[in-house]
Amino acid sequence: MIKTLKIALDGPSGSGKSTIAKRLSKELDILYLDTGAMYRATALKALKLNVDTLDETGVLGFINDLDLNIKYENGSQQTYLDGENVSEKIREPQVSMAASNISSLKCVRLKMVEMQRKIAESVSCVLDGRDIGSFVLPNADFKFYITASVDVRAERRFKELKEKGFNVDFNSLKKEIEERDYNDSHREFAPLVKAKDAILIDTSNMNIEQVVACVMSHIK
Ligand code: DC
Repeated sequence: MIKTLKIALDGPSGSGKSTIAKRLSKELDILYLDTGAMYRATALKALKLNVDTLDETGVLGFINDLDLNIKYENGSQQTYLDGENVSEKIREPQVSMAASNISSLKCVRLKMVEMQRKIAESVSCVLDGRDIGSFVLPNADFKFYITASVDVRAERRFKELKEKGFNVDFNSLKKEIEERDYNDSHREFAPLVKAKDAILIDTSNMNIEQVVACVMSHIK
């Protein structure tokens, strides 16, 4: 059997995980799975159905028949919900908090983790999320925990959303990031946590090139 390379990138919102994961995927020519997109699409489904994202009974009503597909088109991940490409829609600010809420439900996590393990099963890949090193891929070859101060993370998200044309207020964005941090790290099942064997990288004072170089130096 050919040995595959598995890389886990975890950390809070806005820490730069997805940018780093995309770069790693290119440089190492391996698959990138953005697991946050899957929780976001599940949250979008609940919003569409008018189901409260914290109501486990309501969510149980659709989770097992969820029509969620991850496809790779021109090298980039596309997220399909009910046959529709929702890759842009799931980035809308109101979906972020809904995703954080719905991700606290055990029935949702079990479903997502099963899909993630299946996608990652037989290929070399880098997965980014909150519980990759601690729960989804506990035997990953490399685990990194990427973080940065709340102010730096809020600043990065603010820029990113502004560039996409969203009109956001910096202070509300920072507050939302703090709330999501709290939510994501305090949920009962598979919370955001640094795996014991993960390498911690604080990117507050680093640019993307420096972070990629640091991660690559560990892998090489
Ligand atoms: O990475 P992101 O901001 O797109 O993730 C959206 C939400 O999904 C995040 O607030 C928590 C949840 N999430 C999770 O619980 N576990 C993951 N592996 C990835 C995301």
